[in-house]
Amino acid sequence: MQLFHNPASPFCRKIDVLLHETGHTGDVEALPASGHPTATDADMPFAYNPLGKIPTLLRPDGPALYDSRVICRYLDDLYKAGLYPENRLWEVLTLEATADGVMDAAVLMVYEKRSRPAERQDPVWVEAQWAKILRTLDAVEARWMSHLAGRLDMGQIALACALGYLDFRHPDRDWRPGRSALAAWFGKFEERPSMIATSPERQ
Ligand code: BEZ
Repeated sequence: MQLFHNPASPFCRKIDVLLHETGHTGDVEALPASGHPTATDADMPFAYNPLGKIPTLLRPDGPALYDSRVICRYLDDLYKAGLYPENRLWEVLTLEATADGVMDAAVLMVYEKRSRPAERQDPVWVEAQWAKILRTLDAVEARWMSHLAGRLDMGQIALACALGYLDFRHPDRDWRPGRSALAAWFGKFEERPSMIATSPERQ
């Protein structure tokens, strides 16, 4: 299989961590892609995904798959990995969607800075994205800690990738104060070999 991929993308990292956790890193070849919304270069997967978004997975047994949630479900099913357990399915999917929403907001903040000249950037909009992130992490701290203490699943992996992205791209904004349980959970989760191997700082 081949994956349109960028090592800085937290959405791609979800797949990388899944492959490490299941021992299948050798099954997927990474095809470098920018992932930037305005990129029109040849390394974008438009032929396979009209949205041109990464990650996009090319597989031998059917059409290309996107987005990260679909690809993770597919790989979990392929490898019978149990990262979407039946008895907690809706919780896992909701936590994964929550984490993906944090990633969306954090990536949009980066794009605003990267794509627009300073005078056209909207600080109110940027701060609204950050407020969304903090509100969501407060909800995780308040409601999801017992889930996070349970067996490894895709919701946990997605959340760890989202928090890792905040540290990677927004190091000047500390999300940890007031969220000590979540910070402690992430500190431990970050030590997993799958997280160390896929850290964007190492790529
Ligand atoms: C980044 O550089 O932060 C990034 C790259 C690709 C997708 C998402 C984010």
